[in-house]
Amino acid sequence: MLVNGEKYRTIWLAEDGWAVHIIDQTRFPYAFEIIRLETLQQTVHAIREMQVRGAPLIGATAAYGICLAMRDDTSDSALMGASAALLETRPTAVNLKWALDLMLKALLPIDPEQRMARAYSLANQICDEDIATNMAIGLNGAEIIANIARTKKPGSSVNILTHCNAGWLATVDWGTATAPIYMSHDSGVPVHVWVDETRPRNQGAFLTAWELGQHGVPHTVIVDNAGGHLMQHEEVDLVIVGTDRTTSSGDVCNKIGTYLKALAAKDCGVPFYVALPSSTIDFTLQDGLKEIPIEERSGDEVKRITGRSKTGSIETIEIVAQGSHVANPAFDVTPARLVTGLITERGVLEANRQSIITAFPDRVAAP
Ligand code: MRU
Repeated sequence: MLVNGEKYRTIWLAEDGWAVHIIDQTRFPYAFEIIRLETLQQTVHAIREMQVRGAPLIGATAAYGICLAMRDDTSDSALMGASAALLETRPTAVNLKWALDLMLKALLPIDPEQRMARAYSLANQICDEDIATNMAIGLNGAEIIANIARTKKPGSSVNILTHCNAGWLATVDWGTATAPIYMSHDSGVPVHVWVDETRPRNQGAFLTAWELGQHGVPHTVIVDNAGGHLMQHEEVDLVIVGTDRTTSSGDVCNKIGTYLKALAAKDCGVPFYVALPSSTIDFTLQDGLKEIPIEERSGDEVKRITGRSKTGSIETIEIVAQGSHVANPAFDVTPARLVTGLITERGVLEANRQSIITAFPDRVAAP
Protein backbone atom coordinates (compact mmCIF):
# COMPACT_ATOMS: atom_id res chain seq x y z
CA MET A 1 0.00 0.00 0.00
CA LEU A 2 1.26 3.48 -0.84
CA VAL A 3 1.29 5.88 2.10
CA ASN A 4 2.32 9.42 1.18
CA GLY A 5 3.94 8.00 -1.96
CA GLU A 6 5.97 5.32 -0.13
CA LYS A 7 5.22 1.59 -0.31
CA TYR A 8 4.55 -0.07 3.03
CA ARG A 9 3.54 -3.41 4.43
CA THR A 10 1.89 -3.22 7.87
CA ILE A 11 4.68 -5.28 9.45
CA TRP A 12 8.29 -5.68 8.35
CA LEU A 13 11.77 -6.39 9.63
CA ALA A 14 13.93 -3.41 10.56
CA GLU A 15 17.14 -2.79 8.62
CA ASP A 16 19.14 -4.63 11.29
CA GLY A 17 17.27 -7.75 10.18
CA TRP A 18 15.90 -8.79 13.58
CA ALA A 19 13.68 -6.11 15.18
CA VAL A 20 10.12 -5.80 13.89
CA HIS A 21 8.42 -2.64 12.70
CA ILE A 22 4.68 -2.14 13.00
CA ILE A 23 2.40 0.85 12.43
CA ASP A 24 0.72 2.05 15.63
CA GLN A 25 -2.98 1.67 14.81
CA THR A 26 -4.06 3.37 18.04
CA ARG A 27 -2.77 6.66 16.60
CA PHE A 28 -4.94 6.68 13.46
CA PRO A 29 -6.22 8.78 11.81
CA TYR A 30 -4.24 11.54 13.46
CA ALA A 31 -0.72 10.21 13.07
CA PHE A 32 1.25 7.61 11.09
CA GLU A 33 3.75 6.31 13.60
CA ILE A 34 6.04 3.33 13.34
CA ILE A 35 6.89 1.29 16.44
CA ARG A 36 9.98 -0.88 16.78
CA LEU A 37 9.39 -4.18 18.60
CA GLU A 38 12.48 -5.78 20.16
CA THR A 39 11.04 -8.17 22.73
CA LEU A 40 8.33 -10.74 23.25
CA GLN A 41 6.81 -8.50 25.95
CA GLN A 42 6.54 -5.57 23.56
CA THR A 43 4.86 -7.84 21.00
CA VAL A 44 2.36 -9.12 23.57
CA HIS A 45 1.61 -5.51 24.51
CA ALA A 46 1.20 -4.46 20.85
CA ILE A 47 -1.42 -7.15 20.19
CA ARG A 48 -3.25 -6.77 23.50
CA GLU A 49 -3.47 -2.98 23.27
CA MET A 50 -4.44 -3.17 19.59
CA GLN A 51 -1.46 -1.30 18.21
CA VAL A 52 -1.85 -4.09 15.68
CA ARG A 53 -5.26 -5.67 15.16
CA GLY A 54 -7.25 -7.54 12.52
CA ALA A 55 -7.10 -11.32 12.40
CA PRO A 56 -4.36 -11.94 9.77
CA LEU A 57 -2.07 -9.20 11.12
CA ILE A 58 -2.45 -10.49 14.69
CA GLY A 59 -1.25 -13.90 13.43
CA ALA A 60 1.74 -12.43 11.56
CA THR A 61 2.73 -10.31 14.56
CA ALA A 62 2.56 -13.30 16.89
CA ALA A 63 4.87 -15.23 14.56
CA TYR A 64 7.46 -12.45 14.88
CA GLY A 65 6.86 -12.45 18.65
CA ILE A 66 8.18 -16.03 18.66
CA CYS A 67 11.24 -14.87 16.68
CA LEU A 68 11.98 -12.16 19.25
CA ALA A 69 11.54 -14.64 22.11
CA MET A 70 13.99 -17.03 20.41
CA ARG A 71 16.66 -14.30 20.42
CA ASP A 72 16.77 -14.53 24.23
CA ASP A 73 16.25 -18.23 24.80
CA THR A 74 15.69 -21.07 22.33
CA SER A 75 14.77 -23.75 24.89
CA ASP A 76 11.53 -25.77 24.71
CA SER A 77 10.18 -24.01 27.79
CA ALA A 78 10.91 -20.53 26.35
CA LEU A 79 9.19 -21.50 23.11
CA MET A 80 6.12 -22.90 24.84
CA GLY A 81 6.00 -19.95 27.26
CA ALA A 82 6.20 -17.39 24.44
CA SER A 83 3.44 -19.15 22.53
CA ALA A 84 1.20 -19.25 25.63
CA ALA A 85 1.78 -15.55 26.38
CA LEU A 86 0.93 -14.56 22.80
CA LEU A 87 -2.11 -16.84 22.66
CA GLU A 88 -3.60 -15.09 25.71
CA THR A 89 -3.55 -11.64 24.12
CA ARG A 90 -6.85 -11.81 22.18
CA PRO A 91 -9.35 -14.68 22.26
CA THR A 92 -11.48 -14.44 19.11
CA ALA A 93 -9.30 -14.22 15.98
CA VAL A 94 -8.21 -17.79 15.19
CA ASN A 95 -5.30 -16.64 13.01
CA LEU A 96 -3.39 -16.12 16.25
CA LYS A 97 -3.58 -19.80 17.15
CA TRP A 98 -3.08 -20.82 13.53
CA ALA A 99 0.21 -18.90 13.28
CA LEU A 100 1.46 -20.07 16.68
CA ASP A 101 0.63 -23.70 15.87
CA LEU A 102 2.60 -23.40 12.61
CA MET A 103 5.59 -21.98 14.49
CA LEU A 104 5.49 -24.64 17.22
CA LYS A 105 5.08 -27.47 14.74
CA ALA A 106 8.15 -26.31 12.81
CA LEU A 107 10.36 -25.32 15.76
CA LEU A 108 9.76 -27.89 18.49
CA PRO A 109 11.22 -30.89 16.60
CA ILE A 110 14.45 -29.13 15.54
CA ASP A 111 17.72 -28.47 17.35
CA PRO A 112 17.32 -25.36 19.59
CA GLU A 113 20.42 -23.86 17.93
CA GLN A 114 18.55 -23.71 14.62
CA ARG A 115 15.30 -22.36 16.03
CA MET A 116 15.90 -18.63 15.74
CA ALA A 117 16.85 -18.68 12.05
CA ARG A 118 13.98 -21.04 11.24
CA ALA A 119 11.51 -18.85 13.18
CA TYR A 120 12.44 -15.77 11.15
CA SER A 121 12.18 -17.59 7.85
CA LEU A 122 8.76 -19.01 8.78
CA ALA A 123 7.43 -15.64 10.02
CA ASN A 124 8.62 -14.01 6.78
CA GLN A 125 6.88 -16.78 4.85
CA ILE A 126 3.61 -16.26 6.77
CA CYS A 127 3.72 -12.58 5.76
CA ASP A 128 4.51 -13.29 2.10
CA GLU A 129 1.76 -15.90 1.91
CA ASP A 130 -0.73 -13.52 3.52
CA ILE A 131 -0.12 -11.07 0.69
CA ALA A 132 -0.46 -13.73 -2.03
CA THR A 133 -3.65 -15.02 -0.38
CA ASN A 134 -5.20 -11.56 -0.20
CA MET A 135 -4.37 -10.92 -3.85
CA ALA A 136 -6.17 -14.14 -4.78
CA ILE A 137 -9.15 -13.09 -2.62
CA GLY A 138 -9.04 -9.74 -4.40
CA LEU A 139 -9.19 -11.30 -7.85
CA ASN A 140 -12.04 -13.65 -6.85
CA GLY A 141 -14.03 -10.85 -5.21
CA ALA A 142 -13.41 -8.42 -8.07
CA GLU A 143 -15.26 -10.83 -10.38
CA ILE A 144 -18.36 -10.49 -8.18
CA ILE A 145 -18.08 -6.71 -8.29
CA ALA A 146 -17.54 -6.73 -12.07
CA ASN A 147 -20.67 -8.86 -12.55
CA ILE A 148 -22.73 -6.39 -10.51
CA ALA A 149 -21.19 -3.45 -12.40
CA ARG A 150 -22.47 -4.99 -15.67
CA THR A 151 -26.04 -4.79 -14.34
CA LYS A 152 -25.80 -1.07 -13.52
CA LYS A 153 -26.22 2.03 -15.67
CA PRO A 154 -22.93 2.81 -17.46
CA GLY A 155 -20.74 5.05 -15.29
CA SER A 156 -22.66 4.49 -12.05
CA SER A 157 -20.70 3.08 -9.12
CA VAL A 158 -21.09 -0.29 -7.45
CA ASN A 159 -21.99 0.57 -3.84
CA ILE A 160 -20.30 -1.72 -1.32
CA LEU A 161 -20.96 -1.61 2.41
CA THR A 162 -18.25 -2.75 4.79
CA HIS A 163 -17.97 -2.99 8.57
CA CYS A 164 -14.94 -2.54 10.83
CA ASN A 165 -11.55 -2.69 9.14
CA ALA A 166 -10.81 -5.80 7.11
CA GLY A 167 -8.41 -3.75 5.06
CA TRP A 168 -4.73 -3.29 4.43
CA LEU A 169 -4.28 -2.41 8.10
CA ALA A 170 -5.81 -5.71 9.24
CA THR A 171 -3.47 -7.83 7.11
CA VAL A 172 0.12 -7.63 5.86
CA ASP A 173 -1.04 -6.00 2.61
CA TRP A 174 -4.20 -5.53 0.48
CA GLY A 175 -6.73 -6.51 3.16
CA THR A 176 -9.37 -9.18 2.76
CA ALA A 177 -12.68 -7.30 2.31
CA THR A 178 -10.81 -4.40 0.70
CA ALA A 179 -8.71 -6.43 -1.76
CA PRO A 180 -11.62 -6.87 -4.23
CA ILE A 181 -12.43 -3.17 -3.79
CA TYR A 182 -8.85 -2.03 -4.47
CA MET A 183 -8.52 -4.35 -7.47
CA SER A 184 -11.86 -3.22 -8.94
CA HIS A 185 -10.94 0.43 -8.45
CA ASP A 186 -7.47 -0.09 -9.96
CA SER A 187 -8.94 -1.79 -13.02
CA GLY A 188 -11.38 1.05 -13.68
CA VAL A 189 -14.61 -0.42 -12.29
CA PRO A 190 -16.32 2.48 -10.48
CA VAL A 191 -16.83 1.61 -6.81
CA HIS A 192 -18.08 3.56 -3.83
CA VAL A 193 -17.80 2.25 -0.27
CA TRP A 194 -20.20 2.84 2.62
CA VAL A 195 -17.93 2.67 5.66
CA ASP A 196 -19.64 1.80 8.97
CA GLU A 197 -17.95 3.86 11.67
CA THR A 198 -17.83 0.71 13.88
CA ARG A 199 -18.31 1.85 17.45
CA PRO A 200 -16.85 1.67 19.99
CA ARG A 201 -13.30 1.70 18.60
CA ASN A 202 -14.25 3.27 15.29
CA GLN A 203 -12.11 1.04 13.09
CA GLY A 204 -14.29 2.06 10.13
CA ALA A 205 -14.05 5.81 10.65
CA PHE A 206 -10.43 5.79 11.83
CA LEU A 207 -8.82 3.04 9.76
CA THR A 208 -10.93 1.95 6.76
CA ALA A 209 -11.78 5.52 5.77
CA TRP A 210 -8.12 6.50 6.11
CA GLU A 211 -6.81 3.69 3.93
CA LEU A 212 -9.52 4.01 1.27
CA GLY A 213 -8.59 7.69 1.13
CA GLN A 214 -4.90 6.85 0.69
CA HIS A 215 -5.83 4.57 -2.20
CA GLY A 216 -8.19 7.14 -3.76
CA VAL A 217 -11.32 4.98 -3.42
CA PRO A 218 -14.55 7.04 -3.16
CA HIS A 219 -16.20 6.35 0.19
CA THR A 220 -18.68 7.73 2.71
CA VAL A 221 -18.57 7.12 6.47
CA ILE A 222 -21.96 6.30 8.01
CA VAL A 223 -23.10 5.62 11.56
CA ASP A 224 -23.46 1.95 12.35
CA ASN A 225 -27.24 2.11 12.27
CA ALA A 226 -27.52 3.61 8.77
CA GLY A 227 -26.82 0.45 6.78
CA GLY A 228 -30.34 -1.01 6.96
CA HIS A 229 -31.89 2.23 5.80
CA LEU A 230 -29.50 2.49 2.85
CA MET A 231 -30.23 -1.12 1.87
CA GLN A 232 -34.00 -0.49 1.97
CA HIS A 233 -33.47 2.39 -0.45
CA GLU A 234 -31.35 0.32 -2.87
CA GLU A 235 -28.21 2.30 -2.10
CA VAL A 236 -26.17 -0.81 -1.36
CA ASP A 237 -25.34 -3.34 -4.12
CA LEU A 238 -23.44 -5.75 -1.89
CA VAL A 239 -21.88 -6.10 1.54
CA ILE A 240 -18.31 -7.37 1.96
CA VAL A 241 -16.93 -7.89 5.46
CA GLY A 242 -13.97 -9.74 6.94
CA THR A 243 -14.00 -12.28 9.74
CA ASP A 244 -12.00 -13.18 12.82
CA ARG A 245 -13.07 -16.81 12.86
CA THR A 246 -15.35 -18.80 10.59
CA THR A 247 -16.44 -22.32 11.47
CA SER A 248 -16.20 -25.30 9.14
CA SER A 249 -19.98 -24.98 8.72
CA GLY A 250 -19.73 -21.37 7.52
CA ASP A 251 -20.82 -19.43 10.63
CA VAL A 252 -18.98 -16.12 10.54
CA CYS A 253 -17.67 -14.32 13.61
CA ASN A 254 -16.74 -10.69 12.97
CA LYS A 255 -16.79 -7.27 14.63
CA ILE A 256 -19.88 -6.55 16.72
CA GLY A 257 -22.71 -5.31 14.50
CA THR A 258 -21.92 -7.53 11.53
CA TYR A 259 -24.91 -9.79 12.31
CA LEU A 260 -27.34 -6.86 12.11
CA LYS A 261 -25.97 -5.94 8.68
CA ALA A 262 -26.46 -9.52 7.53
CA LEU A 263 -30.07 -9.51 8.77
CA ALA A 264 -30.81 -6.26 6.96
CA ALA A 265 -29.11 -7.55 3.82
CA LYS A 266 -31.23 -10.73 3.88
CA ASP A 267 -34.43 -8.70 4.32
CA CYS A 268 -33.50 -6.38 1.45
CA GLY A 269 -32.14 -9.04 -0.92
CA VAL A 270 -28.63 -7.54 -0.84
CA PRO A 271 -25.80 -10.09 -1.32
CA PHE A 272 -23.74 -10.49 1.86
CA TYR A 273 -20.17 -11.72 1.24
CA VAL A 274 -17.39 -12.53 3.67
CA ALA A 275 -13.78 -12.28 2.46
CA LEU A 276 -11.34 -14.53 4.29
CA PRO A 277 -8.09 -16.45 4.04
CA SER A 278 -8.31 -20.14 4.95
CA SER A 279 -6.19 -19.34 8.03
CA THR A 280 -9.35 -17.74 9.48
CA ILE A 281 -11.37 -20.95 9.16
CA ASP A 282 -11.48 -22.93 12.40
CA PHE A 283 -11.87 -26.47 11.11
CA THR A 284 -12.36 -27.75 14.67
CA LEU A 285 -15.64 -25.86 15.16
CA GLN A 286 -19.13 -26.43 13.75
CA ASP A 287 -21.43 -24.13 15.73
CA GLY A 288 -20.28 -20.53 15.75
CA LEU A 289 -22.83 -19.28 18.27
CA LYS A 290 -21.99 -21.90 20.86
CA GLU A 291 -18.29 -22.45 20.26
CA ILE A 292 -16.53 -19.20 19.29
CA PRO A 293 -15.16 -17.25 22.28
CA ILE A 294 -16.34 -13.64 22.10
CA GLU A 295 -13.92 -11.06 23.48
CA GLU A 296 -15.48 -8.80 26.12
CA ARG A 297 -13.51 -5.56 26.18
CA SER A 298 -13.28 -2.76 28.70
CA GLY A 299 -16.40 -0.67 29.20
CA ASP A 300 -14.19 2.40 28.97
CA GLU A 301 -14.24 1.97 25.20
CA VAL A 302 -18.02 2.55 25.28
CA LYS A 303 -17.97 5.29 27.92
CA ARG A 304 -15.32 7.40 26.22
CA ILE A 305 -14.59 8.71 22.80
CA THR A 306 -11.35 10.15 21.47
CA GLY A 307 -11.08 12.76 18.76
CA ARG A 308 -9.34 15.88 17.57
CA SER A 309 -10.62 19.14 19.09
CA LYS A 310 -11.01 22.38 17.14
CA THR A 311 -7.62 23.50 18.47
CA GLY A 312 -5.99 20.37 17.01
CA SER A 313 -5.31 18.57 20.30
CA ILE A 314 -6.35 14.93 20.69
CA GLU A 315 -8.85 14.64 23.53
CA THR A 316 -10.83 11.88 25.19
CA ILE A 317 -14.23 12.75 26.59
CA GLU A 318 -16.94 10.80 28.47
CA ILE A 319 -20.20 10.27 26.60
CA VAL A 320 -22.24 7.96 28.88
CA ALA A 321 -24.37 9.10 31.81
CA GLN A 322 -22.38 8.81 35.01
CA GLY A 323 -23.18 5.71 37.03
CA SER A 324 -24.64 3.73 34.10
CA HIS A 325 -23.36 0.21 33.51
CA VAL A 326 -21.89 -0.55 30.10
CA ALA A 327 -21.19 -3.80 28.24
CA ASN A 328 -18.74 -4.22 25.40
CA PRO A 329 -18.88 -7.53 23.50
CA ALA A 330 -16.42 -7.01 20.64
CA PHE A 331 -17.65 -9.61 18.13
CA ASP A 332 -20.83 -11.37 17.03
CA VAL A 333 -21.68 -14.42 14.96
CA THR A 334 -23.55 -14.31 11.68
CA PRO A 335 -25.11 -17.73 11.00
CA ALA A 336 -24.13 -19.36 7.71
CA ARG A 337 -27.72 -19.11 6.43
CA LEU A 338 -27.33 -15.32 6.14
CA VAL A 339 -24.07 -15.50 4.16
CA THR A 340 -24.27 -15.36 0.35
CA GLY A 341 -20.70 -16.54 -0.18
CA LEU A 342 -17.22 -16.85 1.28
CA ILE A 343 -14.58 -15.17 -0.89
CA THR A 344 -11.42 -17.21 -0.30
CA GLU A 345 -8.05 -17.64 -1.98
CA ARG A 346 -9.44 -20.78 -3.64
CA GLY A 347 -12.60 -19.23 -5.01
CA VAL A 348 -16.02 -18.13 -3.84
CA LEU A 349 -17.53 -20.85 -1.64
CA GLU A 350 -20.99 -21.49 -0.29
CA ALA A 351 -21.13 -21.01 3.46
CA ASN A 352 -21.53 -24.67 4.30
CA ARG A 353 -19.33 -27.56 5.42
CA GLN A 354 -19.33 -29.43 2.14
CA SER A 355 -18.22 -26.44 0.11
CA ILE A 356 -15.53 -25.47 2.64
CA ILE A 357 -14.14 -28.98 3.07
CA THR A 358 -14.11 -29.60 -0.69
CA ALA A 359 -12.05 -26.44 -1.23
CA PHE A 360 -9.63 -27.08 1.64
CA PRO A 361 -9.20 -30.85 2.11
CA ASP A 362 -5.54 -30.28 3.08
CA ARG A 363 -6.53 -27.98 5.97
CA VAL A 364 -9.00 -30.52 7.34
CA ALA A 365 -6.32 -33.17 7.46
CA ALA A 366 -3.76 -30.80 9.02
CA PRO A 367 -5.59 -27.90 10.70
O1 MRU B 1 -10.98 -5.93 17.09
P1 MRU B 1 -10.30 -5.91 15.75
O2 MRU B 1 -10.08 -4.52 15.22
O3 MRU B 1 -9.05 -6.74 15.74
O4 MRU B 1 -11.36 -6.60 14.81
C1 MRU B 1 -11.06 -6.78 13.43
C2 MRU B 1 -12.20 -7.31 12.66
O5 MRU B 1 -13.24 -7.62 13.18
C3 MRU B 1 -11.94 -7.53 11.20
O6 MRU B 1 -13.11 -7.33 10.45
C4 MRU B 1 -11.48 -8.98 11.04
O7 MRU B 1 -10.35 -9.24 11.82
C5 MRU B 1 -11.15 -9.32 9.66
S1 MRU B 1 -9.61 -8.61 9.21
C6 MRU B 1 -9.12 -9.09 7.70
